[in-house]
Amino acid sequence: MNVTVRGQTRHHRTVTFDSRNNQVLLVEQRLLPHEFKIIPTRNFRETASAISDMVVRGAGAIGATAAFGLAQGARAFRGSDLKKFSHHLTVVYQALKDARPTAVDPVNAMNDVRRAMMFGETVGEKQSIALAAAEEFSNEDVHHCKQIGMHGAKLIRNGMRILTHCNAGWLAFVDVGAATAPIYAAQAAGKKFHVFCDETRPRSQGATLTAWELAQQGVSHQIIADNAAGHLMQRGEIDLVIVGSDRTLGRTGEVANKIGTYTKAVLAKRHNIPFYVAIPLSTIDWKLKRGCDIPIEDRHEHEVLGAWGILSSPTSGVQSPKSGRRAYVRVANPTSGARNPGFDVTPAELITGIITPAGIFKPRELWRQRRELGFAS
Ligand code: MRU
Repeated sequence: MNVTVRGQTRHHRTVTFDSRNNQVLLVEQRLLPHEFKIIPTRNFRETASAISDMVVRGAGAIGATAAFGLAQGARAFRGSDLKKFSHHLTVVYQALKDARPTAVDPVNAMNDVRRAMMFGETVGEKQSIALAAAEEFSNEDVHHCKQIGMHGAKLIRNGMRILTHCNAGWLAFVDVGAATAPIYAAQAAGKKFHVFCDETRPRSQGATLTAWELAQQGVSHQIIADNAAGHLMQRGEIDLVIVGSDRTLGRTGEVANKIGTYTKAVLAKRHNIPFYVAIPLSTIDWKLKRGCDIPIEDRHEHEVLGAWGILSSPTSGVQSPKSGRRAYVRVANPTSGARNPGFDVTPAELITGIITPAGIFKPRELWRQRRELGFAS
């Protein structure tokens, strides 16, 4: 998407690859919305750390990062012994897979790359195929998001108030985003509407990333505290909910997404508000049979016990000597611990529809439509 920094507007993708230096280039999302910066990872271990430390986050973006990380690791191999190369590749794959467990996109993306590499006969051939396949995954992610926009924009009518959770915007993908794709497409079609961004504690991806994205694109929006959604729904102030997903089960239509999504789906059902999930095909898990088997990432308790931000005065905006600096502040009682599950699973019956690149389906229709939705074998 276009990013305007200090008056200069440029198009950026969240994840790209510098083939000359064998580096993955990432938007450093932990600094947003306060600073826009692209950083390189120099080897596959740094790429895996960038995923686990959430320099890059969001299902499609970590999928593309893992695909490029696998190509990066493959290209760093020296020699022509295919057996050693294959062992090396297993190590790289595992490191990138283990970086974050809930989203299925990294595994689907790396499996695409590995399948393509089978057509190479030498180490050199496999290395160049790996990069081409990672580029293809990345381009396909963008294409899928645009198609999601095309299908999803029909759901947005003039005057609507839309709720979204966490960040399933372009920062969570390579470009355009999933939950935001219908928003950007509706905006381009001249529709007028308003978006509420759930703050999304503990890491506040809604307040920091989605709000920044929407501000950059000139979309009317406000941040709400996570606990405010029920109140607004009860007062008739939310007409539509669109969220993303980290893993959607093709067999059952269950949706794993950022913690708090399930709560919003229950509330939406209670108030008869349509609840949609937007996903590219790489987010579908065709194997798992039950949502309760989705691995839910437990993250560090410091995310719940405090918060990151820029130092400034909340009321007067008066700058202190330390203001402007990114800092972590402890909020919670110093002797208390915390539990921090990163995701939850929303059952199919709470979901009105799944917006895919191939159209909008009822969650339980995914399995019947599996050929059209990229299920192989
Ligand atoms: O922990 P994150 O920021 O990687 O989680 C991302 C999400 O869960 C988002 O809600 C998003 O909808 C899924 S990624 C497109």
